[in-house]
Amino acid sequence: MNIAQKLCCPHLLKIEPYQSARRIGGSGEIWLNANELPFPNAEFTVSSEGYNRYPEVPSSALLGSYSAHASFPAEQILCVRGADEGIELLIRCFCNPGIDSLVITPPTYGMYQVSAAIHNVEVVPVPRKPAFELDIASLKKQLSSKLVFICSPNNPTGNVAGKEELLELLETYRDTSLVVVDEAYIEFCPEHTFSGLIQDYPNLVVLRTMSKAFGMAAVRCGFVLASREVIDLLSCIIAPYPLPLPVEEIAMQALTAKGISRMQANVAEIIRLRESFINEIRDIDGIEKVTPSHANFVLLEFKDEQRALDILGDAGIVVRTPYTQGLIFNSQRISIGTAEQMGKVVAALKKYGDN
Ligand SMILES: Cc1ncc(COP(=O)(O)O)c(C=O)c1O
Repeated sequence: MNIAQKLCCPHLLKIEPYQSARRIGGSGEIWLNANELPFPNAEFTVSSEGYNRYPEVPSSALLGSYSAHASFPAEQILCVRGADEGIELLIRCFCNPGIDSLVITPPTYGMYQVSAAIHNVEVVPVPRKPAFELDIASLKKQLSSKLVFICSPNNPTGNVAGKEELLELLETYRDTSLVVVDEAYIEFCPEHTFSGLIQDYPNLVVLRTMSKAFGMAAVRCGFVLASREVIDLLSCIIAPYPLPLPVEEIAMQALTAKGISRMQANVAEIIRLRESFINEIRDIDGIEKVTPSHANFVLLEFKDEQRALDILGDAGIVVRTPYTQGLIFNSQRISIGTAEQMGKVVAALKKYGDN
């Protein structure tokens, strides 16, 4: 055993890091594996005044801008380095390592599980039902976990949680658990946000990010929306200067009226491309299932997954084998790219269909 292994927290020795799209990599020119926006946005500028001083924390300007965009009180928002940091902070704040547990609803975003493992927190999976709906009856039996992660729209299935379902959960867990709704993709279906319920349910937390619809995955900016009490606790444990000033400057530009209308135009274009993609591929031989999606990706089930992957790979198209948690099979998640890229995906899938 080397010194690092000898001193390392034992539970971390067997940790499997999150298999992010960049970590997995891939060869090809068309990257449709990370649910990024395919439109580059290089027009942002950063301050010319230098960076020798620590930034203001929390940044009232950024909080104000996001508060206006989200129609949510600024004092109930925390700026974080991407929604992933929000997940980590919640686990760190509310789950005692080796004692507490959290609930996930697989198939879902893999980071909840990985972050729990890093903090030595047990994960209780409550699998979704066959059409990927939440299993409310089973969830209602889980009253001993501190956090319940609900991803909506869910990655990788693209469906949203219903309001009645969520209200039932919030009532059930009123005195026992925080329900964390991960709204990373909410700009693709803003009518499905649950942020308005936070004022009545202090056990509701909503995660947001600028990585998806805003097209700013490299900037690393996200937000936690919650009761004042939850935000105050998270603020105590976050790093002293969490957000680099250039991040804040860029995020502020994306949140101007011009930035928001550009985001909304991009969202409209992605939704148009998603629906036309689904229409073009739904009858292809050997595509067993196309899951309807409220987000910027679509989950496809193949009869011959390897053949589909080979043909997509030959066309330089990199897609994502989702974090299935053993519940979906022969499936690939394809992020919606530009019209040109989606044309190439359709052509490759048609080739796959022509046996
Ligand atoms: C559901 C979900 N939540 C959170 C994240 C991470 O977001 P961020 O880039 O803000 O850390 C992702 C990224 O793919 C995601 O799919």
